[in-house]
Amino acid sequence: MRPIVLVLNGPNLNLLGTREPATYGHQTLADISALCGRTAEELNLGVEFRQTNHEGELLDWIHAARGRCAGIVINPAAWTHTSVAIRDALVASELPVIEVHLSNVHAREPFRHHSFVSGIALAVMCGFGSHGYRLALEHFSLRFKEQGA
Ligand code: DQA
Repeated sequence: MRPIVLVLNGPNLNLLGTREPATYGHQTLADISALCGRTAEELNLGVEFRQTNHEGELLDWIHAARGRCAGIVINPAAWTHTSVAIRDALVASELPVIEVHLSNVHAREPFRHHSFVSGIALAVMCGFGSHGYRLALEHFSLRFKEQGA
């Protein structure tokens, strides 16, 4: 069975394409979902791609991934900088987590420099635009092969 990677996106990312294109680019979330789907096919991974503006819904998805998925790629968006609950849920999932940001958060406002997720993540991608999602899936694929999954 192909390992399943859950790709989660937090608030306002549904607006990609029209939202601050100078910062986030012109690609829509549907474009990024398609990119992840194509990448997963190439790498022989299963992928589930989701976005929500409701923190509780994101928590429920993380809880349900435990024991079912092989890894989580997450762009927590603004919740990166605010949510202990998301960090705790990710730890409880016992899954490897790769944090992704389209923009280089460290080159932006100081309040974006702190992430509650980075300290428990396997890796962090930021500033690669949508390529960050592809790179995260590629890393999971290499890691699963090394682990013989
Ligand atoms: C973001 C960066 C966050 O600071 C911001 O709140 C977002 C998007 C990014 O992908 O660059 O909504 O996670």
